[in-house]
Amino acid sequence: MKMPQLPPYDHQPKLYSGPAQEEIMELRRRYLTPSLVTYYKNPIMIVEGSMQYVYDERGRRYLDVFGGIVTISVGHCHPYVTQRIREQMEILQHTTTIYLHPIIAQYARMLAEKLPAELRVCYFVNSGSEANDLALLLARLYTGNYDVVALRNAYHGGSASTMGLTAQSTWKYNYPHSFGIHHAIAPDPYRGPWGRDDPDAGIKYASDVREIIEFATPGCVAAFIAESIQGVGGAVVYPDGFLAQAYEYCRDAGGLCIADEVQTGFGRTGSHYWGFETQDVIPDIVTMAKGIGNGLPLAAVVTTPAIAQTLTRRIHFNTFGGNPVSCAGGKAVLEVIDRENLQQNALKIGNYLMDGLKGLMDKHDLIGDVRGRGLMTGVELVKDRRSKEPAKGECDFVFERSKELGLLVGKGGFHGNVLRIKPPLCIHEGDVDFLIEVLDFALKEV
Ligand SMILES: Cc1ncc(COP(=O)(O)O)c(C=O)c1O
Repeated sequence: MKMPQLPPYDHQPKLYSGPAQEEIMELRRRYLTPSLVTYYKNPIMIVEGSMQYVYDERGRRYLDVFGGIVTISVGHCHPYVTQRIREQMEILQHTTTIYLHPIIAQYARMLAEKLPAELRVCYFVNSGSEANDLALLLARLYTGNYDVVALRNAYHGGSASTMGLTAQSTWKYNYPHSFGIHHAIAPDPYRGPWGRDDPDAGIKYASDVREIIEFATPGCVAAFIAESIQGVGGAVVYPDGFLAQAYEYCRDAGGLCIADEVQTGFGRTGSHYWGFETQDVIPDIVTMAKGIGNGLPLAAVVTTPAIAQTLTRRIHFNTFGGNPVSCAGGKAVLEVIDRENLQQNALKIGNYLMDGLKGLMDKHDLIGDVRGRGLMTGVELVKDRRSKEPAKGECDFVFERSKELGLLVGKGGFHGNVLRIKPPLCIHEGDVDFLIEVLDFALKEV
């Protein structure tokens, strides 16, 4: 069988003259926390990136369909974003929000204009965990309630409070973190009790949110929080109507609805700019990170003026939140998404990708499910389509083999048997052809 070939690309990576991969591995072993996880048996060292491609120290090019964990939204080192960051870097790197600076204000207006009218107050922070921490604080202060409903199989961060929201044992340390947080059944039409053939599945899954409120809380809650599509959990797309019904139960109990758009925002779903729009709901608080900054440490919480007001009861401060360099980058990302029609590209290429993945599913019984929206997709591998026994070892094989063939994919799902394909939004059809060929090749070898 012919080896898959990357599409041609006109970029010459710089000659790498730094330390060798083995030396970096040794430095990491000695001087970095042992909790750092590296992908691949022989970890890859990435020293350069250009749009949807990255290069290792030998100058080998890879198609990157995981984008630094769904973070490279418009492309590695996108020239316009890089130029804006560099320009800001050269005149003022940091002052913090105690002084005025034009970019944070202009950027906040641009970001708010992308959201429903009532969601117009921005609070900038540095990471998704920080954004969700703040959303939790806002919801509890505003409502005066404490309990929160999240979903099983969710990932909302690794800080002390967001670890409580996260609902996979693999990410939860044996340490007190979930007081007042309850997890409703994951609305997973592939593995859950109600599948895609059930038109009422959304309503049925949401009934667990209602029951939790009735039986596990004082009957009133601070919030319901959900990713718009579960990311780390393996690209789980909820049945239609789920969020609308869950939001209704939460609001009936006095709670606010929080949409975690850390992975699904900024046009990734293709059909919509925000993931929550695919479920036809309007949240009270939206949290964003990752793709917002195309790799800069930038995140945001956007809410209504009334909810935002609660933080004025004390002083709340974040040194780097709203940093001019990050905001210059964030503003450039918004401009590029519009100018280069990247949301439309996510829709077009996402559909093309889905067709290719479904074609693979027809050929390979190992694929139990393909799912997703736009460029937020997952391929779940199972040993047997009936029992749905997770094919973790096989998934590891395809994942490793893909790297050897020049493709970097992600891996996830609670059982580690889902290939996660969430590339930069600038990806082309030729890249998808290569990706499908690589997966086909690797799946044949399993
Ligand atoms: C949906 C979601 N929310 C929150 C986070 C936490 O973001 P961070 O790692 O920037 O703290 C992540 C990270 O993967 C995420 O996927």
